[in-house]
Amino acid sequence: MNHRIVGQHALTKTMLSNILKISQDAKAAKKLNPELIDATVGMLHHESGQIFTYQTVTDTLCSLKENEMYAYSPANGTAEYRNGIVDWVFGKNKDRIKNAFQINVIPTTGGSGAISNAVYNFNDFGQKILIPNHYWTPYENIAEEANVGVETFSMFDKDYRFNVGDFRQKAFALAERQKRLFLILNDPCNNPTGLCLSKADWVEVIAVLNDISRRDIPVILLHDLAYLDYHAQGFDGARDIFETYLELDENILAIIAFSGSKTFSLYGFRIGAQIGLTKSKDVMADFCRVGDYSVRARFSSVSRSGMSVVGQIFSRPEKKAAFQNELLTAREILKKRVDLFSAEAEKAHLQTLPYGGGFFIGVPTNNPDIFDDLVKDGVYSITMPGLVRIAISSVPLSDIERLVQILKKNV
Ligand SMILES: Cc1ncc(COP(=O)(O)O)c(C=O)c1O
Repeated sequence: MNHRIVGQHALTKTMLSNILKISQDAKAAKKLNPELIDATVGMLHHESGQIFTYQTVTDTLCSLKENEMYAYSPANGTAEYRNGIVDWVFGKNKDRIKNAFQINVIPTTGGSGAISNAVYNFNDFGQKILIPNHYWTPYENIAEEANVGVETFSMFDKDYRFNVGDFRQKAFALAERQKRLFLILNDPCNNPTGLCLSKADWVEVIAVLNDISRRDIPVILLHDLAYLDYHAQGFDGARDIFETYLELDENILAIIAFSGSKTFSLYGFRIGAQIGLTKSKDVMADFCRVGDYSVRARFSSVSRSGMSVVGQIFSRPEKKAAFQNELLTAREILKKRVDLFSAEAEKAHLQTLPYGGGFFIGVPTNNPDIFDDLVKDGVYSITMPGLVRIAISSVPLSDIERLVQILKKNV
């Protein structure tokens, strides 16, 4: 029988590297063996193993009125949410950014919804998007779902600095070939490496985008800043990079993918946003038209309680201040773990990638069987070619010395 139940385009869909599934396996294994180290989970946890939640978020959630919780949320967001998110993300640069750009906010189901709508709407089927060779693996699935492919550039040069040269070369080659450049950069606090680009790196990235745009090639920068609020340089330090945005050429569209999952520990609420920025009125009109359409067509609207909580924290100064204060505690937890990991790695001569903040430390490896070898020694991690991703967000201090030793033995 020649009976094909799925559509032609879905024939090859198979989830090969499923981070959430590996995390669930790790949890199940840890129940049987409490000594096991689970370094898979990209959620912040206390030393006790409990998930880290923010009191301001919980209090706001518990005080929501019925209509703030149960009603449909407006497809293009409440004013509190829309305005608050722009002020939050750009921080000290918000006035200059608002003066220089057309801006619009489209609420999405987490950062994932923002990325997936953008990849779908701003590429032709069969085209390729450009990402660094170390990347959050769902980018590949999101691309496949949108009928596009991925092409990579080397993220690091030989000194483990951001490889602007390779980025420039790959970006030009791809843009010339297909007459479009759609770039995803996950920065700061890159998942999986922990890298934070410097302001100088961003200046170079934007110069490349401008050069390509001046050849009359559409350029879309998708800036995934899921871990913005966990930058080791703090709230203001994390936002230095936005100054470089001011140089973006008129026709470029920047789309920021914001994740409420990470900033507010609202992982299960599926709240996020696309923030579109461009100097061109026409490009902005297109961004709004297709973005609003896709929200309605794909998931209709987002979690009302998520939007209400985030909107209230952004717009009420006393809540915002209390939340900012709690973020200091979250960053301090990460800092203590990273400091200990670095000290142990130095003692053990274990090489690690440069860490600038966030939930992950990258450890280079040449071992093709690294995942299985680590599991044999009682460590669950996410591995990818040449790299072990350690989610320091969920590894307590008490496990770090042992973790480093096991890594050293196997990489
Ligand atoms: C790099 C990166 N981008 C985006 C996301 C999206 O998160 P969410 O859809 O929960 O907002 C994640 C989540 O793990 C991530 O690691």
